[in-house]
Amino acid sequence: QPAKLLVLPGDGIGPEVMHEVGRVITWLEKNRGLAFEITEDLVGGASLAEYGEPIRNEVIEKARAADAVLFGSVGDPRWGHVGFEKRPEVAILKLRQELELFANLRPAKVFDALVDASTLKPDVVRGLDIMIVRETVGGIYFGDPRGIETLPDGTRRGINTEVYTTPEIERVARVAFEMARKRSNHVCSVEKCNVMESGLLWKEVVTDLHAREFSDVKLTHMLADNCAMQLVRNPRQFDVIVTGNLFGDILSDLASMLTGSLGMLPSATLGAVRADGKCAALYEPIHGSAPDIAGQGIANPIAQILSFAMLLRYSLNLQDEAKMVEEAVSRVLESGLRTADIMSEGMARVGTSVMGEAIVRE
Ligand code: NAI
Ligand code: MG
Repeated sequence: QPAKLLVLPGDGIGPEVMHEVGRVITWLEKNRGLAFEITEDLVGGASLAEYGEPIRNEVIEKARAADAVLFGSVGDPRWGHVGFEKRPEVAILKLRQELELFANLRPAKVFDALVDASTLKPDVVRGLDIMIVRETVGGIYFGDPRGIETLPDGTRRGINTEVYTTPEIERVARVAFEMARKRSNHVCSVEKCNVMESGLLWKEVVTDLHAREFSDVKLTHMLADNCAMQLVRNPRQFDVIVTGNLFGDILSDLASMLTGSLGMLPSATLGAVRADGKCAALYEPIHGSAPDIAGQGIANPIAQILSFAMLLRYSLNLQDEAKMVEEAVSRVLESGLRTADIMSEGMARVGTSVMGEAIVRE
């Protein structure tokens, strides 16, 4: 049975980098006998221009029915002035909500050929390969009460509340433990149980789940502020980090800079397990629509291609093919080809499509 993919290129460089994934898919069909049933649709500014809304319900239903969603990026300065409901970015927020995509997986991997692109010393990051699992639909971004109040004396106060329930913590921790089993078998759970009740519960629930179902995996705990420091001091001590929404947001941005470029970083967001045993999943690069370089054919397609490799691995269980794609990327970098964002002295500067072609050739 062909794998059902919904492809949503979006705005700016989204369609340009997605085009290069198309080459990889065609190659896999021809040479590995894989079958994909691909539906493509508009989201973001592209959908606003055509239908007057950033994403149609029809597209959300298609996403629900697909084995996986491959997303480009949304955002277009031409829609910057409109109200929130009509922002292109609402497309991705709605997809996350509607599919209940609760676990965001962000690998931070340093390719040998790009070890000099890191903001840290090569000796500290060589061989780095960590995975941050961030809870995305709960925590302080969504907890009640929230709002801005005015007190009788005229003082105003802004309120947000961090709320985590046991099932919310368990399901994201389970993703992290299962992930660790396929990697280096170590989960570091990050919270601030020294000052937060939600952090105390987080630690307790992760510890209990570990004892019940995952005692073969090494589990450690770390306070979030220490984790930020350790990620810069000695990032290779980590394998999988699991944490809540707010700490995950900050720590994953921090970790992304250990690797150098935005144009290299994929992500996956996994949702609830469905009746057919599969889970909803959306794959996208970390970067946005990069309006400053859109339409010039110079965007780096690697983050989008590596997002597709994650799709092969996590949604379709095609481990060999996922590895083939990742190794092809690695070899192209070793051969000296570079898009502008990762360019360094003595390397050959190429555009989006030459980079895509080279990856397919490898
Ligand atoms: P951005 O990630 O689009 O760009 C930041 C900088 O990195 C720019 O200088 C850009 O040229 C460069 N860059 C990004 N990806 C690149 C690639 N593949 N190759 C080469 N260079 C690359 O972030 P920015 O500028 O903050 O946002 C632009 C738009 O994208 C906004 O409308 C924003 O809301 C949207 N956005 C959408 C996301 C999504 O769809 N999930 C995520 C982040 C931003
Ligand atoms: Mg962020």
